[in-house]
Amino acid sequence: MADRARILVLGGDGIGPEVTAAGVEVLKRVAPRAGLALDLEEDLLGGCSWDAHGTFCRDAVVAKARAADAILVGAVGGPKWDSLDVPGTPSDKDGLIRLRKELDTFACLRPARSYPALAARTPFRDVAGVDLLVLRELCGGVYFGAPRGIRALSGGGHEGFDNYLYASGEIARVARVGLEIARRRGRGMVSLDKANVMESGVLWRRVVSEVGAAEYPDVPLRHLYADNALYQLVRDPRSFDVMLGDNLLGDLFSDLVAAFAGSLGMLPSASLHRLEAPGRPSRPGIFEPVHGTAPDIAGRGIANPLGAILSVAMLFEYGLGLPAPARAIEAAVDATLADGVLTPDLGGSADTASVTRAVLGHLG
Ligand code: NAD
Ligand code: IPM
Ligand code: MN
Repeated sequence: MADRARILVLGGDGIGPEVTAAGVEVLKRVAPRAGLALDLEEDLLGGCSWDAHGTFCRDAVVAKARAADAILVGAVGGPKWDSLDVPGTPSDKDGLIRLRKELDTFACLRPARSYPALAARTPFRDVAGVDLLVLRELCGGVYFGAPRGIRALSGGGHEGFDNYLYASGEIARVARVGLEIARRRGRGMVSLDKANVMESGVLWRRVVSEVGAAEYPDVPLRHLYADNALYQLVRDPRSFDVMLGDNLLGDLFSDLVAAFAGSLGMLPSASLHRLEAPGRPSRPGIFEPVHGTAPDIAGRGIANPLGAILSVAMLFEYGLGLPAPARAIEAAVDATLADGVLTPDLGGSADTASVTRAVLGHLG
């Protein structure tokens, strides 16, 4: 008897729907072979939801997301909506941020590796063997800390302020996920912070050390100031494996490591409430490419769909507890790259549909 999986698809804005459509084709191709029947449902998130409903994420979408086994997202936002002055919390101002917070998907896995076929597309002389994973804390820190705002100064002008706030429990739970992944991958973890200047960084370093010493004494753990870490990473990317960062640092580092892959369009992510294996997690994860809505190329059919397709691989592995289909999708992506079927961001002239067809072809 076929197992069933309920997947909510939220394409979002710009190239989001273009790349999630590719992801859904791959999902549909692979699921039956894994003995999986799919219940797919689509809805709006981000600017398209604002235009239709006056909110970036409806309560109904949150309810559907909670009831799903996994959520596949494209990307949200764009010039039309980014400068709107919407009152309220970050969750009111951004649909994806609301969804992440509502589902408490605090552990965001953003793996990046080099591809032999794309090495010449990187700005580096030698990227062979680069294979790392940025683990980004996703539900706390300066993205959510209160108070925040822009207020008038008595002497004229304004000041904008945010609160870079972390509770020890928030740090400990993501540190645990990072150390667990590092134990599985076998090459240790580097934790990023600015403990030399920030109190939240001092606590971050202390709590990560405590969790490491108490629960993962076998996992090599290093702490680096984030600025130095960036420098070391660009100089010697192979000396890194798992990199743990807070919400802001993780956002910055995950775009940077995309340069080792050859394009931001290559990077997938899995945002999880809990790292569980084998089997399905108790709460749904959100699976999305790391890139944004790419307004500069939206609507032209030339977006690189591989970040979204690799996010489907992560959906199988981490969202549904099925690593075999994930490996098959990754192999089909490798074969597509080796064939030279490349979108313009990778120096090719193939469109989104041709790349998707090539991946499907390799899946058989
Ligand atoms: P972006 O990631 O959208 O684009 C950065 C650059 O990378 C652009 O040159 C773009 O063309 C290119 N690029 C990105 N994805 C690509 C793909 N799949 N194929 C080919 N090229 C690709 O970042 P941005 O321009 O800073 O942001 C644009 C909008 O997206 C903003 O509104 C931003 O807030 C939003 N955004 C959303 C997410 C998300 O939903 N997860 C992530 C980042 C940015
Ligand atoms: C990401 C994006 C988002 C973030 C934006 C769109 C809110 O940059 O997912 O990396 O900053 O988290
Ligand atoms: Mn980002």
